[in-house]
Amino acid sequence: MTAPVSVTVDENIAYVTIDNPPVNALSQAVRAGLSDAVRRLDADDAVQAVVLLCTGRTFVAGADIREFGKPPQPPHLPDVIAEIENAHVPWVAAIHGTALGGGLELALGCSARVVEAGAKLGLPEVSLGLIPGAGGTVRLPRLVPVEEAIAMITSGKPVDAAQAVSIGLADRIAKNDRVEEAAELARELAANGKPDTLSARPPVGNPDETFWAKQRASIKAKVRGQISPVAGLEAVRDAVTMPAAGAFTAERARFMALKDTEQSAALRYMFFAERNTGRPDAIKNEKPAEIRSVGVIGGGTMGAGIAASFLLAGLPITLIERDAEAVDQAIGRVKGILEQSRKRGVLTDETLAETLVRFSAETSYETLSDCDLVIEAVFEDMNVKHAVFADLDKVCRADAILATNTSYLDVSAIADATSDPSRVVGLHFFSPAHVMKLLEIVKTEAASPKTLETALSVAKMLHKIPVIAGVCDGFIGNRIFSAFRRECDFMLEEGALPEQIDAAMRGFGFAMGIYAVQDLAGLDIGWATRKRQAASRDPEARYSRIADRICELGRFGQKTGAGWYSYAEGSRTGDPDPLVERIVREESERLGIQRKDFSDEDIMNRIMAAMQTEARAVLDEGIALKPSDIDVTLVHGYGFPRHQGGPMFKAGQT
Ligand code: 3HC
Ligand code: NAI
Repeated sequence: MTAPVSVTVDENIAYVTIDNPPVNALSQAVRAGLSDAVRRLDADDAVQAVVLLCTGRTFVAGADIREFGKPPQPPHLPDVIAEIENAHVPWVAAIHGTALGGGLELALGCSARVVEAGAKLGLPEVSLGLIPGAGGTVRLPRLVPVEEAIAMITSGKPVDAAQAVSIGLADRIAKNDRVEEAAELARELAANGKPDTLSARPPVGNPDETFWAKQRASIKAKVRGQISPVAGLEAVRDAVTMPAAGAFTAERARFMALKDTEQSAALRYMFFAERNTGRPDAIKNEKPAEIRSVGVIGGGTMGAGIAASFLLAGLPITLIERDAEAVDQAIGRVKGILEQSRKRGVLTDETLAETLVRFSAETSYETLSDCDLVIEAVFEDMNVKHAVFADLDKVCRADAILATNTSYLDVSAIADATSDPSRVVGLHFFSPAHVMKLLEIVKTEAASPKTLETALSVAKMLHKIPVIAGVCDGFIGNRIFSAFRRECDFMLEEGALPEQIDAAMRGFGFAMGIYAVQDLAGLDIGWATRKRQAASRDPEARYSRIADRICELGRFGQKTGAGWYSYAEGSRTGDPDPLVERIVREESERLGIQRKDFSDEDIMNRIMAAMQTEARAVLDEGIALKPSDIDVTLVHGYGFPRHQGGPMFKAGQT
């Protein structure tokens, strides 16, 4: 094995190269190599300056997260960075790809930073439930304005090369060769004398207590109980109000304490769970089909979002609707999404125009004859879906992959409408499809390995997180969602009210409670599903009628102005509705249930138990491949707070 850190010297400039694939994480061997390099170069009088660079696709992506569960091994990163900062000669970081976490802290220990135009620099530790722990909170506000340091540290969001230069984080954007240009800057620094270290400089700004109180309140309002962003703010405050030496000690203490919290364990678990979602053995050696053109059937909420996702990924899309009027409406929806993308800076005027050239919508299936993939997103009705798949079977190429976006229906039964069910798969997108990261890939018994491999490649193409699910009512996500929704309705019968359950869920860290979410998504699809299931339902099993009674009044959520809540004209915030409370109380009375008080803790315990019970059944039946896939599904599809890890993590069953 080659050493992960190597040193070469050329014309009085030393080049220290980190080579630790895949992302040059700062493992013990890298830290030891860097420490040795400082010692060796400090002892070499011929060396006037040092360039620190990385091989491979990126600069250092941070500390090695895999080491966090183990006792820390020396040399420790803060000490190594201090050695670089105090080296006899200036070190200049030559940054490409991403300089993240400990990677950026390493670059802050250097005297200067040269970045490639496409580079991103950030301190994402908060997203792992941590704060920077190798001097980042102390050095960054001594280099960039305190407000900028707070934004980077508490949001975890990286800045690009141009922003980095504009706030003073980077010295130069390399025009051609980052290493040569870093060497040039290193020579200049050597000639002019090594600049003051960041530790020796004063902070860039000294805000008053009102500022810190405002920042604290604004961060707390955003983070839904996650502790690391607030800890990040307090660390920057220490750094600005204390001498650097004391602030380094305080930062380290905060970092070590956070590392041992359940939130950090949950977030680190999620980091790996998201990158390691299930892949059945059977498809490991298959090659995916190449996807060059895609058809979408149905241009409603989901179809338009799915079409926009592919367009934004650079593919041509043909969308099919029922009639000319529906075509016009679908075009309007897709254009609306692309226009939002332009406003957010994802597209420019030119790329928007170019994207629209790749988009067409019409009523004839014939135009799908050359598509590599067609995704159906029509009404949630088996007869309609059967008719669509029978048509697709006639017009599409024999090797085209056919997918359905059904929420609950039996994908095997849909596939049976075709002459070759091996090419049919469920691609269950979440709403809004161009935003939500999760893609449930529903695998029928008949689906071929190539079909599944292609579905996984589609997820990659769209930058989505794929989770493979088996066929059952609602797959992984909607099945668990239905189970815990049922439990919430039982709690209504027993004494709770919708607004109370929603508040308990928000307190736990969900962005919205289950009743507000249903109002947003619409209550009609769930109602149709319950009616479909009625014939096969066990008559002895407990069943709450509250949701059906609300739907029977035509209250389908925000789109009808009322659902679990009522909505004032134009408002998206619901008000508790006395009519709903009356229905809830009537049902308790009808069932002879004595209503009781529920604390937030009671509510969350019941919800968690319902999720965990259904999740275990989903695993036992082989619907999910592993527990962490269930957690990824709930976090990315249903708003389960990422810092709580997911129901299986909570149950200690990962
Ligand atoms: N430690 C260990 N492994 C890491 C890692 C890290 N910091 N960052 C990435 N990896 C691994 C991934 O698990 C993955 O492994 P796999 O191939 O076995 O699945 C592999 O590297 C490639 O990662 P991605 O699939 O994520 O590759 P991308 O190209 O999509 O993204 C990246 C690259 C932007 C660098 C992304 O991996 C990333 O965001 N990494 C984490 C960055 C981070 O959070 N750094 C802070 C660490 S904490 C810290 O530094 C503490 C300090 O303050 C003391
Ligand atoms: P929608 O009602 O907004 O859109 C359906 C569209 O399909 C309509 O525009 C309709 O004109 C069109 N359509 C109907 N029959 C057609 C046919 N034969 N040929 C061409 N177009 C036809 O419905 P939505 O919400 O987009 O749902 C579509 C599918 O996606 C359903 O199966 C639903 O269960 C599923 N789904 C919905 C989610 C949601 O949050 N709305 C989330 C995930 C999946």
